[in-house]
Amino acid sequence: MKAEFRNHGILKLFLVAIFLFLNNNVGLAQRKSWTDAEFKTALKNAYEKFKDYKEGANANYIPELDKVDPELFGLAIVTTDGKIFTEGNISTEVSIQSISKVFTMAKVIEDSGSDEILEKVGVDATGMVFNSIIAIELNQGKEINPLVNPGAIATTSLINGDTYEEKWNLIKTTFDDFAGRKLNIDQPVYESEAATNQRNQAIAMLLNAYERMYFDPAEATDIYTKQCAIAVNVKDLATMASTFANGGTNPVTKKKVVSYQTVAHVIPVMATAGLYDDSGQWIYNVGLPGKSGVGGGIIAFYPGQFGIAVISPRLDAAGNSVRAQESIKNIVAELGSNPFYVQPRK
Ligand code: DON
Repeated sequence: MKAEFRNHGILKLFLVAIFLFLNNNVGLAQRKSWTDAEFKTALKNAYEKFKDYKEGANANYIPELDKVDPELFGLAIVTTDGKIFTEGNISTEVSIQSISKVFTMAKVIEDSGSDEILEKVGVDATGMVFNSIIAIELNQGKEINPLVNPGAIATTSLINGDTYEEKWNLIKTTFDDFAGRKLNIDQPVYESEAATNQRNQAIAMLLNAYERMYFDPAEATDIYTKQCAIAVNVKDLATMASTFANGGTNPVTKKKVVSYQTVAHVIPVMATAGLYDDSGQWIYNVGLPGKSGVGGGIIAFYPGQFGIAVISPRLDAAGNSVRAQESIKNIVAELGSNPFYVQPRK
């Protein structure tokens, strides 16, 4: 009897110790894993909540973008262990537009080192509209970043290769590797933008005058325009985002596209300039590095965990999809996946 009682006592002590241990560790842990059902439900809830949302308007300064169905609404999450969750329209492709800028930036850092961007382009948020000429003038072409048009065209000019074809081919294969499949060009969008992008041509010439353009400015602008016309669906975008989340290795194909050190240099610029002059509001609300494009896509990712993408063409005044911002905000809140949520130590 006595021995049995003592055994129970030891068992109780053991259970209390386990409880205290788990409780402490749960207290320390940030939320870093979710069930498949949680991902699916978060996507579905955002879709249901925003499916009738109509705020904003398609971009129309590129005439072809005005023709895209404004109702298009697709959402996807790709985890760093390669699971894919989708909701809404997942097959329709849109032009990647400014989201392209982060992948070209990554490729330049990967091939030429992080100082190349730091010294030849800059990594500071301009706080101005993405095609601002004043932003160039203020600092004679310095103090900009690869995610606004001037810095992006300069970044494209820094891609390895002596000719237009060599640079373009390297960009295209890099994008294919990020997405894990061969992507196409939206030819009508490319031609539409090439015929109307006098402002970008002027930006490239102005940077050239300040010796901050590293290839023929007209050709660099054309390669940049083509890179913006690469066609992607929402699953492609989420896979590309998840490749960043997974330290530069595509979580589905397992191919290393860039190093994790390269990704670590891309993240801060996305966090401070990914949504242009609204980047502060974005990171304040969502906590994840993100990037938008005037084609209607937005990507974001939780380093180490997952990439997320939403496509919805109606934009706000800053050029960011309204419904994509709202959806990602909703999903992040529901999953508790803001990496700045740190529970205090007990
Ligand atoms: O150069 C442009 O104006 C477009 N190809 C890309 C701009 C863009 O996507 C800005 N994004 N929100």
